[in-house]
Amino acid sequence: MCGIIGYTGGRPAVPLIIEGLRRLEYRGYDSAGTAYVQDGELQVVRAEGKLIELDTKLAALDTSRARAGIGHTRWATHGVPVERNAHPHIDQDGTIALVHNGIIENYQELKDELTAAGHTFRTETDTEVIAHLIGAVLNACIVEGVPEEDCMIQALSRALARAEGAYALAVINLAEPDVIYGARHSSPLVMGVSDEENFLASDIPAFLPYTRNVVYLNDGELVRLTKNSWTVYDCATAKKIERTPQRIEWDIQAAQKGGYKHFMLKEIFEQPMVVTNCLTGRLSPDHKHVTLPELEEMPVPERLHIIACGTSFHAGLWAMYLMENWAKIPTSVEIASEYRYRDTILGEGDQVLVISQSGETADTLACLRKVKEQGAKVIGLCNVVGSSIARESDTVIYTQAGPEISVASTKAMCSQLVVLTLMALFWGRRKNLLTEMAETECLDTLKRIPEHLETALPEMRETARTLARQYSGARSFLFLGRGSCYPLALEGALKLKEISYIHAEGYAAGEMKHGPIALIDPDFPTFALALADDLFPKVQSNLQEVQARNGKIIALTQDGMDLTVDSVWKIPHAWGPLDVFFALPALQLFAYEVADYLGKDVDQPRNLAKSVTVE
Ligand code: F6R
Repeated sequence: MCGIIGYTGGRPAVPLIIEGLRRLEYRGYDSAGTAYVQDGELQVVRAEGKLIELDTKLAALDTSRARAGIGHTRWATHGVPVERNAHPHIDQDGTIALVHNGIIENYQELKDELTAAGHTFRTETDTEVIAHLIGAVLNACIVEGVPEEDCMIQALSRALARAEGAYALAVINLAEPDVIYGARHSSPLVMGVSDEENFLASDIPAFLPYTRNVVYLNDGELVRLTKNSWTVYDCATAKKIERTPQRIEWDIQAAQKGGYKHFMLKEIFEQPMVVTNCLTGRLSPDHKHVTLPELEEMPVPERLHIIACGTSFHAGLWAMYLMENWAKIPTSVEIASEYRYRDTILGEGDQVLVISQSGETADTLACLRKVKEQGAKVIGLCNVVGSSIARESDTVIYTQAGPEISVASTKAMCSQLVVLTLMALFWGRRKNLLTEMAETECLDTLKRIPEHLETALPEMRETARTLARQYSGARSFLFLGRGSCYPLALEGALKLKEISYIHAEGYAAGEMKHGPIALIDPDFPTFALALADDLFPKVQSNLQEVQARNGKIIALTQDGMDLTVDSVWKIPHAWGPLDVFFALPALQLFAYEVADYLGKDVDQPRNLAKSVTVE
């Protein structure tokens, strides 16, 4: 979690840092801070709460002469979210300031050692320990006579050799007021480079208005940035490394709200485009087959182990039905935080598919590393290009959904579902299990979905809005589904609880009688996924059981389905499991409208952060 930024160039640094932090606020928002050198003094300004609090403090100061600086927006991991614990943190001498995203696991051991050497700590954070460590090693380098221009790189290299855990750091040193240093290990860090100014940030939107040339830093790399130069070093050896910038083609508009009240709403409405983008380049010239060059070199898995967290886990669970049905691949789907601590068994010919929008989720990344150690081949399904999971997987398929800013994931799941559908078709065909007609029919449907969804979304939103007003007084909700609608029930419940704070549980409808039915009463509504599939009659019976207990029901269903419940919400038909591309936005819109009606902070729900880079 946490967003970090560094800037060095010819313009006043602080406004650029704040603007960059604003675009990183989705990564954490319980406190923020900045550090810069002005008139020969290291200034650190921090504030508890959202960025606006820091902005207000800075407005009272003259920061106009600082030409370099660092900034941070925090999601607390160590130490309560108060100003004292906000970043930047400084070293013992007060000459080095740094911002950090990640966790230093051995901070207590380092703190004890430094305390014994006379250091005094002002905060409870792991980050302050790193600032002190770097300061102490820098002093030792100076005493040793390391040439002045190499001192900071040497100090970072030696200090970070002692740090265990995850970090992306941006550092500023009073002695070099216009230079920014950075380091990366298991937390994202990317440079934005140009001839006149250079940036360092957790994510590209932070600097995209100013440069499109980026260098993704790898684990174990250090960087030194000045106004007109940037140099990458290997952290272990402090030797220079050659890197070439890449050009980013997407627009800053994609990272901004574009007229919608919330990013979440914008991203829900982007789903037609997301389906199109996901299909781009993945169909044969005659559009009859799937082409997935990323999988071409790998055999079809004998068994597939899907590992993910949260919404990505739900996408994986949905895919299980397709993998088994179309490609006849035995598939298990696991929550990463559980999988990583089990004695899991991988057979020869098994493959692992890790799904992660951010590509940085700590538990998913840990599972990836674990199974690789066991010799398994890993396919990564990620949205963020150059993310850790993307880089460490044997092969990566990008979901091409564009930046997802809303903390609650919407369009990323849609993009995952498209790619997972393509994968099931691809493997089914390689095993000669699919008739050409089935594949063509599925692909034709997928191609038609964007236009169809684009037309349907405004009306779906209206229905969601009406239902939200009717049902937002409920304190609890049950979401029910069967078959491939079961993962959607889980996702519907997750979306509702995370942004509206209404308790919601997703259940397999057939499990009702094994416990949850005891909860049903007139004040405990059920949101049922009752789509036109083979299991519809079973769902219908389950709903009758709810009605017999006077439970109120919203049913998401389709034309031709015979249901008499309190609220019937009809969505368009697509084809077989591809109805998901209408059911998913309906669930997302319902959660959105309830949360918005209740006046919740939709894009930044309490206690959550976009990218869960700690365990
Ligand atoms: C919920 C949500 C989370 C993420 C989960 C995994 O709306 O966004 O449940 O799906 O934290 O994140 P990724 O996909 O980045 O690994």
